[in-house]
Amino acid sequence: MQIAVYPGSFDPVTLGHFDIIKRSADIFDQVVIGVLNNSEKKKPLFSVDERVMMLKEATRDIPNVTVESFDGLLVDFVKQHNSKVIVRGLRALADFDIELQMAQANRMVAPDIDTLFLSTSLEYSCFSSSMVREYASYGVSVKGFVPENVIPKIEEKYNKK
Ligand code: PNS
Repeated sequence: MQIAVYPGSFDPVTLGHFDIIKRSADIFDQVVIGVLNNSEKKKPLFSVDERVMMLKEATRDIPNVTVESFDGLLVDFVKQHNSKVIVRGLRALADFDIELQMAQANRMVAPDIDTLFLSTSLEYSCFSSSMVREYASYGVSVKGFVPENVIPKIEEKYNKK
């Protein structure tokens, strides 16, 4: 049983993330999405519970995907799930430095765990959660950027503000 962990902040999940999730689920027997409970992040748009819920809704038709939050070190979360693989999506060169650094640091502390990079599909290569938040804050529709179930949740957030 090959289990992969796909970690991230997912504030909110974008179609770029969703693409990586679907492709990972085709490669691995089981994919565990780990939503970082990043209490240090000043003001996330969505609480960790909301992010987990939106991901669960978005992935409900993919039977080998589960979603949960995690605190602390990613490699500990990966070990708890008897996994040895971290999946990350790579967009452009800008991602590479930080992703390589994270992958190497994770291997320093957990040499058994490897990071597998999937190149983001071209149509999603310019997407990011922060871009989605920024557009939404100016009232621009985020249709085509995030899974359908996430659109009303984002609109609700910004209508309240
Ligand atoms: O979606 P993001 O914000 O790019 O994801 C970053 C994430 C969650 C993969 C990273 O911040 C992480 O792994 N955090 C957990 C703490 C940890 O293990 N830090 C050491 C990594 S160098």
